[in-house]
Amino acid sequence: MRKNFILFMGILFLGIFMMSCEGPIGPEGPAGKDGVDGKDGKDGKDAAVGCAECHNPTSAMAKASEYELSKHFYGEAAFEEAGNVTCAPCHASEGFKYVIQNNIPATFALNATTGKYSNNYVATASTSFGSIKCETCHSALHTTYGTKDYAFATTAPVPLTMWAGGKTVNLPADGGKSHLCVRCHQPRPFATSTSLSDGNVVDYAALASNPNGIYFDTEVGNKAPNKHLPSYRFHVHYGVVGAVYAGMGGVEFTGSESYANSFHTANASCQDCHTAPMTGRAGGHTFKVRNGEGALSSSTSWNFNGCNTTDCHGAVKISATNTTYWVNPRNDIKTLLNTLADKINAIGGGQNILHADTDGETNLWAGMTTGNFDGYLDIYDASANPEGYWRNPGNTSAANMAKPKFPSLTNAQVGALINFQFGLREYSLGIHNYKYVKALLTNTIAKL
Ligand code: HEC
Ligand code: HEC
Ligand code: HEC
Ligand code: HEC
Ligand code: HEC
Repeated sequence: MRKNFILFMGILFLGIFMMSCEGPIGPEGPAGKDGVDGKDGKDGKDAAVGCAECHNPTSAMAKASEYELSKHFYGEAAFEEAGNVTCAPCHASEGFKYVIQNNIPATFALNATTGKYSNNYVATASTSFGSIKCETCHSALHTTYGTKDYAFATTAPVPLTMWAGGKTVNLPADGGKSHLCVRCHQPRPFATSTSLSDGNVVDYAALASNPNGIYFDTEVGNKAPNKHLPSYRFHVHYGVVGAVYAGMGGVEFTGSESYANSFHTANASCQDCHTAPMTGRAGGHTFKVRNGEGALSSSTSWNFNGCNTTDCHGAVKISATNTTYWVNPRNDIKTLLNTLADKINAIGGGQNILHADTDGETNLWAGMTTGNFDGYLDIYDASANPEGYWRNPGNTSAANMAKPKFPSLTNAQVGALINFQFGLREYSLGIHNYKYVKALLTNTIAKL
């Protein structure tokens, strides 16, 4: 606009000048050649945007209303985990800003004296609080009072904490915008015990290449050479989407399926589907695709606006009844999850080892598998699973000792547990990365 304006002024000026050269008497001579265009003027300074640029009903205020429907806003984890430096990088606004602004590495540090590893990717006692809010993601808000203040806190590729930074998620779509989400939506490290072993991250490649090795020997119990005891929460946490989406993070057993990624991985960003134009109670700053709360199976309508853009599936128009792009792939993954769950449960010799919970309030994945599994193990835990069937190998209370010993586990079986959690807790039944999830589950089933 400004450049055009300067050009316009230049031409206007030239015109006035030429007019003044017309002779007062006699016929006009032929028109002279056009002069050379003047140089473009310098861009002017951005004017101060003014509070109203953002503080108006259609901009920040509209997003703020949408945001009330986001679990980032109403979820309780930021409150419950306040003060915990380990949880804060992903659950607390100040913790997140701390790890980003100080470039805290995703590495594990070896203490030469004790011979034990510890996780470097933690916040500090003075930064482990704050609910996730506008300033968490748009960290420059109210710094220059211009719309540039909406810049993201980070778009840099994400070294995964689960592998002590050994692998990095790099999702190129939309200039790496997904990395903002993946920073938090990534798995947590699956590490050995610091009392039985050195506390380092478990080497997944070693599990995959030596499937028959013994991971946990129940006769040995709570002693070395066991390095890591199964328990109720024997898992990689809930943020698996970031890794699944990038096609990494599972225990990749070899098998009939090769590991590949769906088209989405390289071509779509989290924002494409999760901040699509609002419809119902999903889209925009709700960050939701599903029109509902609680268990994933509790609602059967989704916001497909992100799918059905001209660049993507606009010609197809995906809906909840589209067999090719929705119903069939999701059913395939569901079947694989059910088959894998059966094989994992067979380890218990007639008694399931996977924990089941039919209540959608406490189990987001209720209804996703026939057995309503949530990814936990049915091991006794005085507070989290007091009704647990199996004995916790790391606990000697009378209530626990009365229970049957948990079975031994091979590397293949531990890999199967991790991969089951991955397939279940990526929430979308394969929409995030169908090819990767399918390969992971198929090869794991064959390995058991
Ligand atoms: C770049 C956009 C932008 C500009 C420009 C902007 N604000 Fe804000 N402001 C926001 C956002 C986003 C929020 C958070 C809204 C929310 O949480 O509901 C906010 C929140 C606020 C709040 C509430 C703080 C709180 O903690 O709840 C005040 C007060 C405020 N702004 C004042 C101003 C004033 C005064 C100006 C002009 C000098 C201004 N803002 C300019 C985006 C902006
Ligand atoms: C600062 C870390 C952080 C960032 C950045 C982040 N998330 Fe989250 N997200 C969380 C946490 C933590 C929860 C769960 C909160 C709870 O239960 O208290 C969550 C929950 C969600 C949910 C749950 C469903 C719901 O009801 O809202 C979705 C979907 C989601 N995030 C998508 C995204 C997307 C998409 C992005 C990127 C635009 C993103 N998140 C960025 C930490 C983050
Ligand atoms: C690497 C990032 C990361 C770290 C570290 C982390 N979490 Fe989370 N956590 C998440 C994400 C992301 C979600 C939400 C996943 C979703 O809803 O899709 C989540 C979800 C949860 C939930 C479930 C909330 C709900 O609404 O169901 C609990 C509870 C939780 N975390 C506890 C913890 C605790 C306790 C710690 C520290 C010991 C911790 N987290 C550390 C990323 C993390
Ligand atoms: C979890 C991260 C996250 C949080 C929290 C968040 N935003 Fe955003 N915001 C985004 C993303 C991602 C986009 C870009 C969406 C896209 O490109 O489609 C965005 C875009 C915007 C835009 C459009 C900016 C532009 O340049 O056009 C506005 C306005 C905005 N957010 C306001 C807010 C307000 C207000 C809040 C708090 C009520 C908020 N955001 C909280 C991630 C977040
Ligand atoms: C191609 C579209 C698409 C893309 C891209 C996408 N998602 Fe999803 N996502 C979905 C669908 C579909 C679901 C399942 C919605 C449901 O049933 O709740 C989902 C579910 C989720 C959930 C759980 C929602 C809930 O309500 O509990 C989270 C968290 C999530 N995605 C995070 C991400 C992150 C992080 C990225 C980027 C790395 C991403 N998604 C990219 C389509 C997508």
